[in-house]
Amino acid sequence: MGELLRRYWYPIAISSELGIKPLRRRLLGEDLVVYRTRSGRVGVMQESCPHRRASMAYGIPEEDGLRCGYHGWVFDPEGTCLEQPAEPASSTFKDRIRATAYPAQELGGMIHVYLGPDPAPLLPRFDLYVWEDVWREIWWADLPFSWMNPMENSVDPHHAEWLHGHYGAFVDELETGVKRDATVYVKPHQKVGFDEFEFGIIKRRMLEGASEEDDDWKIGHPLVFPHMLRRGFAWQHMFQIRVPVDDHTTRHYWYTAYKGPEGFVMPAQDEIPVMEVPWQKPDGDFDVSFVDGQDIMAWATQGAIYDRSLEHLGQSDRGIIMLRRMFERELEKVEQGLDPIGVIRDPAKNEIISLPTEKKKLGGGTKYWKDLIATGTHRYSPFTPKITDLFEQFEEYERRQADAVRDGQ
Ligand code: FES
Ligand SMILES: [Fe+2]
Repeated sequence: MGELLRRYWYPIAISSELGIKPLRRRLLGEDLVVYRTRSGRVGVMQESCPHRRASMAYGIPEEDGLRCGYHGWVFDPEGTCLEQPAEPASSTFKDRIRATAYPAQELGGMIHVYLGPDPAPLLPRFDLYVWEDVWREIWWADLPFSWMNPMENSVDPHHAEWLHGHYGAFVDELETGVKRDATVYVKPHQKVGFDEFEFGIIKRRMLEGASEEDDDWKIGHPLVFPHMLRRGFAWQHMFQIRVPVDDHTTRHYWYTAYKGPEGFVMPAQDEIPVMEVPWQKPDGDFDVSFVDGQDIMAWATQGAIYDRSLEHLGQSDRGIIMLRRMFERELEKVEQGLDPIGVIRDPAKNEIISLPTEKKKLGGGTKYWKDLIATGTHRYSPFTPKITDLFEQFEEYERRQADAVRDGQ
């Protein structure tokens, strides 16, 4: 599996986290250091110094590289050893030393890295990372289980009705004594559908009272192979990025771009707010009072690497079966020396990659976004009043546009 996973780019840090102090990171089971040279280049290299294994996380950024804190060896972002200050000036020893270093690029306020074989494919310019007239917000959490648990959840539409609808209502009842009668998630699924596309699997659902003409079925939203879910609606576009730290640890990013209606001029944003998602209560139990906390409970309690031989898959699990088959097929492609699904090498295809996502989700409207904010991670974000204000401005703008059309202006 590692061979396949190494064919893709992953975010390894948020750009604003990386000042002059290097960051320790683990990705695909490898211990790494992320740093920024004084000239502004981002580097990702092995954590242990090739000299005598001290941690480069305690290094000093230089104009063109990172200097080890122990004896001062310097490596550039390509892994070339530039200096060995304690060696004789005439020594060519440094020319025979290389550090393991990986290509890194910044896009959309994240530092992305590629750990696979050369030549590196292009870093996909997904729309959320590239759009200019948007506001962004990043939430993250380190989670104690395999990235595969959330990925399988991403092709499991029924869970929304149960985990976020019925179980969510039960949690409310436990906390307040009052059972809420409805949420955006409570309507029964009439059917679900899955279609392969260029970057993974499009997931579709049709809820009670809806039709095939509704966005939830007609457009759906994608699992982007192998490690992301794209979800949202017209004004909120989110990547849920499941970064495989190692077999039993996932760094989960919720990367959101808020986008106004056509023609709406977004206020400028100087900095992307970042928040760690508080999924654990002080006593160590899961916080299941919000949608993402409910997901995290389910993913974690399945087991860090859960035993699939003990499960019983039904017809409603066919998205999961499709995803597992896709992993098997793509693993075979890599064994044959081919690029797996979604790997891009043609710059013409990478100017901006627009991924399909429902505009009007689950009926849409004010109720949808208000419920989303009330039941989701937004409740913990200090940024939420700004988002609520933005959504109200979007609504007002759309009302005025509709009035203008009606009045024939
Ligand atoms: S251990 Fe890094 S320079 Fe010696
Ligand atoms: Fe969920």
